[in-house]
Amino acid sequence: MTDDLDLKVEQLTVLQTKTLACQNCHLRTGCQGVVFGEGNPHSPVIFVGEGPGQTEDESGRPFVGKAGQLLDRMLKAVDLPRDTVYITNIVKCRPANNRTPTPEEMQFCLPWLREQFRILRPRFMVLLGLASTHGIIAPDLKMNQVHGKWFERGEVRMLPTYHPAALLRNPNLKRPAWEDFKEISRAVKAFEIE
Ligand code: URA
Repeated sequence: MTDDLDLKVEQLTVLQTKTLACQNCHLRTGCQGVVFGEGNPHSPVIFVGEGPGQTEDESGRPFVGKAGQLLDRMLKAVDLPRDTVYITNIVKCRPANNRTPTPEEMQFCLPWLREQFRILRPRFMVLLGLASTHGIIAPDLKMNQVHGKWFERGEVRMLPTYHPAALLRNPNLKRPAWEDFKEISRAVKAFEIE
């Protein structure tokens, strides 16, 4: 276990160095830096958001602005504190003015997420918002129809839910998102005691 963890950390560090130097698309010219992702490399669960916002771009860390603070509170409330999970985004560079990344931008950036995934080998992937849901599961899905449902891909279980920024804009979404987070926690805990 310790060796595996060390190997993951080493591989992630190598990948992070490569990702930080990425110039594969035009997003890099409009932002301060690449936001790779962070968290517990041994976690069975990875959270994938849309892309860095201004605070994330400035700090180099994912989900540290207002939406990130809400995410932290929700994670803590379902007994999955932030430092126990891994958090990243489908695009690693901030789209100007916080717009949603285009399908092309997501395709350009996806190889980095695939590599993170190959190293981390999580059993659960939580898709925060429509961008990562569309980029990873299917482009035509509607959040009110798919949130809280598990999509199986091989050994990996993926669950879309509302983006925390959407909850800040529309508090009516907090209740369904809360149910989704409880389901995520239930599944992760059940896996951990298997
Ligand atoms: N929104 C995201 O999708 N990702 C972040 O890292 C921050 C805000």
